[in-house]
Amino acid sequence: MRGVKIIGTGSARPNKTLTNDELAKLVDTSDEWITSRTGIKSRYISDGVSTTQLAVEAAKKAIEEAKISVLEIDMIVVGTLTPDLLMPSAACMIQSALGAVNATAFDISAACSGFIYGSKIAINAIRCEDAKTVLVIGAEVLSKIVDWKDRNTCVLFGDGAGAAIYQESEENKILGVYTQSEGNVKALSLNGIPLSNCFLQTTNENDTDFYIKMDGREVYKFAISVAPLCIEKVLEKANMDVSEIDHVILHQANERIMDMAAKKIDIDQSKFFKNLDSYGNTSAASIPIALDEAKSEFKPGEKIVLVGFGGGLTWGSILFEW
Ligand code: ACO
Repeated sequence: MRGVKIIGTGSARPNKTLTNDELAKLVDTSDEWITSRTGIKSRYISDGVSTTQLAVEAAKKAIEEAKISVLEIDMIVVGTLTPDLLMPSAACMIQSALGAVNATAFDISAACSGFIYGSKIAINAIRCEDAKTVLVIGAEVLSKIVDWKDRNTCVLFGDGAGAAIYQESEENKILGVYTQSEGNVKALSLNGIPLSNCFLQTTNENDTDFYIKMDGREVYKFAISVAPLCIEKVLEKANMDVSEIDHVILHQANERIMDMAAKKIDIDQSKFFKNLDSYGNTSAASIPIALDEAKSEFKPGEKIVLVGFGGGLTWGSILFEW
């Protein structure tokens, strides 16, 4: 089986920021409530920049760091809840903007686990010799699907994009991959296009709003149960002990989820990278943005685990060596 490693990462964010104090002018909330419940202080919000534009910027940085030609990319996988169009896919639009004419490009729907699921596809495609170089992107403009009148959700989310390039390698650096899902519409959902055709008309008003809906407490319980499981599963696959992990990059949803996961699995909190104070939750983009920002702290040979969880419900993890 071929070896695989990450050879470049990149990230991008809109220029505009929205602080908790600014949000408190839009809905009945406060910096104190948001900070104490979530750890979020500010988030980046699109002032017109699209999911594709953010993704292309992140991808270009990853390509530059990897020192490859775009023509070497033979697969582009994009995790997103918020593509610019339903067709063509975000991946095809990104392919066109990059000029990556040799790639097979497609989107996947796994919400906040999109980057982990996309990475699994990339790793397996390389391992089974279907691809040599794969660009995986998580990109979101969540501000367009957030209900800005709902304080329960609008304080949590932000916009951004992150990218990583996986390539075949003589020395395998991917030590474990784990994913799982469980169909559950109640905890987290976002409407699609309602059924309305020559026989039927939509009558349910709820079908026509396109905002994220979330049962916060259910999602919290779900997240603190699967986050430690994700770490255990990849350690098991790699036959490693938890003490051997040097860095954890957990989906940046909520600081309390991170702290609880650290306690449950007995990993020092200092090993958990955090940037959600300035980004909020950027769904599929959260892990690759965090990876891009955390990499300056990594030393060769260190073991890093990426953990995602989100709507679907979906969850998963990747353990790799730097
Ligand atoms: N400002 C002020 N008050 C608020 C706000 C707000 N922004 N949002 C909710 N409240 C109120 C509620 O209305 C409620 O008031 P009530 O008791 O009068 O009804 C009160 O605060 C307490 O609400 P809870 O839901 O109990 O608050 P909790 O402490 O559970 O925190 C939170 C809510 C932060 C959403 C928490 O449940 C959580 O972190 N859940 C995980 C959700 C998550 O991370 N989702 C991310 C998206 S999904 C993903 O990425 C996988």
